Amino acid sequence: MSLTPQPDSGADDYVIVQGWGNYTEQDHAVWRALFERQSALLPGRACQEYLDGLAGLGVAADGIPDFERLSDILERTTGWRIVAVPGLVPDDIFFGHLAARRFPATNWIRQPAQMDYLQEPDVFHDVFGHVPLLMNPVFADYMAAYGRGGLKALRLGALPKLARLYWYTVEFGLIRTGAGLRIYGSGIVSSRTESAYCLESPKPKRIAFDLLRIMRTEYRIDDLQDGYFVIDSFDQLFAATGPDFTPYYETLKGLSDVPPGAVLPEDELIEIA
Ligand code: PHE
Ligand code: CO
Repeated sequence: MSLTPQPDSGADDYVIVQGWGNYTEQDHAVWRALFERQSALLPGRACQEYLDGLAGLGVAADGIPDFERLSDILERTTGWRIVAVPGLVPDDIFFGHLAARRFPATNWIRQPAQMDYLQEPDVFHDVFGHVPLLMNPVFADYMAAYGRGGLKALRLGALPKLARLYWYTVEFGLIRTGAGLRIYGSGIVSSRTESAYCLESPKPKRIAFDLLRIMRTEYRIDDLQDGYFVIDSFDQLFAATGPDFTPYYETLKGLSDVPPGAVLPEDELIEIA
């Protein structure tokens, strides 16, 4: 469909209508191909909470989902809804949506030539990648708390630090389970190459979750990650991010940044089998 934002109510929250009826047969075919590819890769790789969320939403292989229908299921489960946006939105707008339990999802889908690489999120990344975990009550609360924390970080001039937490958890997080390492990050579950690489390649570092360590760590947006951070549970993540970050931001001013893929003496490295 066209990338031109559709006429809306003139709202300043960047929300547009999804325009589900405007998707072409090619758009739905791209969704189906991506969906089938990832669905084959994710059992045994994605965490159970993600797989349960995907099943619970009934996001199916048949085509790009209608946000209203998904939102009705999501809202009954965790109080979240999906709103359509034309692409990346300003930080304050993004955090305001999250704090109000609205997930802004891009409405357009990539072209067939872009199956493996995209600079910006499209509807497949946003919906297939992010929405299933919003069905999990703890993760759903974490995302809303992140929205409130984002508004505060903006006021404190600390957003670059907090953005790293989103990157290394929401987008590229791994989780340790009784069955082994699993994926929960949306940037991984929506990527063919990364969903195998993050668990199986000997190249990237896998480091046990440490909040301040993450907020010191730079990240790259143009390639597979050099390092991942591993949580033990969503409860652990929620508890560790519960305190007021204001003093942490002060502490971070005295700590150097760490390049992606570096290992510090105090890091707990996690080996793959
Ligand atoms: N507790 C954080 C703060 O005070 C808010 C937050 C929660 C940030 C969860 C990220 C994730 O800023
Ligand atoms: Co994303």
